[in-house]
Formats: sequence, C-alpha cells, structure tokens
Amino acid sequence: MSPPEHFAVEYAINPWMDITAPVDAELALKQWEGLREALVRLGHEVHVLPPEIGLPDMVYAANGAFSVDGVVYGARFKYPQRTAEASAHRRFYDRLGWRYITPAATNEGEGDFTYLPKALGGLVLAGHGFRTEVGAHAEAQEALGRPVISLRLTDPRIYHLDVALAPLDDENVAYYPGAFSESSRTVLRRLFPHAILATEEDALAFGLNLVSDGHNVVLNAEATGLAAQLRAAGYTPVPVELTELKKGGGSVKCCVAELRS
Ligand code: ARG
Repeated sequence: MSPPEHFAVEYAINPWMDITAPVDAELALKQWEGLREALVRLGHEVHVLPPEIGLPDMVYAANGAFSVDGVVYGARFKYPQRTAEASAHRRFYDRLGWRYITPAATNEGEGDFTYLPKALGGLVLAGHGFRTEVGAHAEAQEALGRPVISLRLTDPRIYHLDVALAPLDDENVAYYPGAFSESSRTVLRRLFPHAILATEEDALAFGLNLVSDGHNVVLNAEATGLAAQLRAAGYTPVPVELTELKKGGGSVKCCVAELRS
C-alpha cells in the first residue's frame, strides 16, 4: 500500500475523476489509514511503498504489478501520467528479491489481473477493453505459467477488472455481470456457477473492489447490498469508508497490491 500523501485529482483518465470537484486530502489519508488498520487487525502484513511527488494516483498500488508465486509480471501504464509508478513498484520487488518480468504490452497490474489458486489448479482472470491490452494476457500466461482467461469489459465506468469482479476465496468470485461482454458473461457462468452476482448499484459503489482472505471481506461501506449478500453466503463483511479515494476512481482493492510469494 502507498499512502495518499500526494493524492489529488489533477487529471481525468476515468469517468469518476472530476478535476473541478474538491478532494479532502486530510480525510483521504485518514480513510486510507483506516483501511490499513483494518487489514492489520485481520492479521495481514502491510508493506508501505513510499509515495512520490507528482504521482497522485500512486495510492492505487494494485496497478503497479501482478505477482504469483514470487514471480512478478510488471505493469506498463496506459496513460503517461502514471508511467513512472511502474519503476517504483519494480524497485520494491527487486528489494524483496522476487523475479521481475518487464512487460512489453500495456497492462495495469492487479487492476486487470487476479488469481484463484484453487480454480483449475491456479487460474488467472484478466480484463481488457479499457486499460490492459489483450496481448498482455498472453504475455502474463508465458511469464507466470498459469492459464489466463480473457474477459472483456464493456462499461467505461467499470474500466478495470477489479471494479467488476473479485475473488472471495481460493476458488469462488463475486462479479457484476453487466460489466462484461455477453460472451465473457457466458465464460464466467461456466467457470463460476456459484458466484455471488452483484447489482449495478453495488458495483458502482465500488463494492466489488474488495480484498478477501476467504472469510473476512474488506469492502467499501457504501456497498450495503453486497455486504448483506456476502453475510448470507457465510462471509464476514468488513466495511471501510473510502469516499475520498472514490473520487479518483478507486477503492479498497485498488489501494492494495497483493504479494503472492
Ligand atoms: N485514477 C486511477 C486511474 O484511473 C484509479 C486507479 C484505480 N485502480 C484500480 N485498481 N482499479 O488509473
């Protein structure tokens, strides 16, 4: 995670970003701290990536890379405003001694890639349509030696896979069907017949932009319907307030890069 010390909405690269709307920087930092504390309370170890001046979106640490089994498939951002973030993440993984693979294709890390360790023996789900190029999906499969399923996103408000779909445990997911092309919806139905289907309202409240340990599901407090569905399915929702970071087009998951060692 990277604290929003230099967070601001200075440019607009997704439909949520309104450069004329005020952002409460102090509140953003306080809410981010609340998220970090919630994760620590649940037993996670949180590493902090130092934020850099001039990179206001660096708080969305999920976009910096995608790792599986200590191998890191690096990011290559679509927009020049975020390009420099990739090398900050790279330095972090280099210090850990993880193998880092430099991508040739545009991809925004865990924004568009996620991993289910027990589905088909280790399955990558990958989004394309707005940010990550479909060529990056093949590149990730070669880099990581895991099958990659390509899913096409079709709603510009849901421009990253991690706003449309989330792993709940090692093999099941929650998703909002309306974010995907018809064929991608069919693929998801075949792969995950027991998935939790979120409503449009909860998806647009960034409810699916969540972090789950298989039991506790940390999610945006505004997604109350999804929290109830999760509770009914036996999970424990852990709501957190992240209103300020939503103004940049992100929430819980966007702020967290998972380290799969
Ligand atoms: N303002 C950032 C962008 O548009 C938000 C990134 C959200 N991150 C995510 N993992 N969905 O690039």
